[in-house]
Amino acid sequence: MTNNKRIAVLGTGMVGQGIANKLISLGYDVMMGSREKANEKAVAFVTSHASTGRASNGTFAEAASYAEIMITATHGESILSILNGIGAAALANKIIVDISNPLDFSQGMPPSLSIVNTDSLGERIQRAFLSARIVKTLNTVNVDVMVNPKQLAERSDVFVSGNDAAAKATVVDLLKEFGWDAPLDLGDITTARGTEMYLALWIRLWPIVGNPHFNLKIVRAL
Ligand SMILES: NC(=O)c1ccc[n+]([C@@H]2O[C@H](COP(=O)([O-])OP(=O)(O)OC[C@H]3O[C@@H](n4cnc5c(N)ncnc54)[C@H](OP(=O)(O)O)[C@@H]3O)[C@@H](O)[C@H]2O)c1
Repeated sequence: MTNNKRIAVLGTGMVGQGIANKLISLGYDVMMGSREKANEKAVAFVTSHASTGRASNGTFAEAASYAEIMITATHGESILSILNGIGAAALANKIIVDISNPLDFSQGMPPSLSIVNTDSLGERIQRAFLSARIVKTLNTVNVDVMVNPKQLAERSDVFVSGNDAAAKATVVDLLKEFGWDAPLDLGDITTARGTEMYLALWIRLWPIVGNPHFNLKIVRAL
């Protein structure tokens, strides 16, 4: 049975925590998934929201079976193996909101991008799981901005990429609940190349700005 107020968050890092906490504050039921069900960060998330009765934790596979909408906030280079572990059958028709970036820190800082130009991580996920509905979004902003865009001094922009119009509409509604008034639909999942490659600039703006709380604003001609 579909529960539209139920969302799975795959990932226990800064992004997984930030998104999951925001969803709880918005009234969603949230299961946080990780490699080990007993992951201490996932357990702490559940404990911190015990009074709501709406937070739970599980393995990545348990989280995937929990909801029709999954948000992937895991280490970029691990995402395909995580989803392969869950299996295509369990991912069929799911909306997979992909926030991850294909950053390679193996040579230190700044990280390079392991997928560029003619491909993107979003496309790789969609090609690997043809019956899942991938929507790439929020990967261009720091987690604090993702869940509270109005903390910035001016209105700014967030982007969505994906092949399935209905899935994108569902995700746009969720983004509006986060505080993004007018998410920009870039088109199909190939447009994720643009937002993922923007990370090469984002990572270099960070020390110039002095903190990660900044974003793009698309300003059009008069
Ligand atoms: N930090 C930001 O503000 C920000 C902004 C935009 C986009 N992003 C993107 O969001 C994603 C999450 O970022 P993050 O900083 O929150 O967390 P992260 O440290 O990149 O990833 C943490 C998650 O990845 C899983 N993981 C790590 N290595 C793994 C492996 N070898 N196999 C399976 N799972 C593995 C961990 O699983 P366990 O819980 O089981 O340990 C954990 O849930 C990244 O792709 C990042 O590029 C981050």
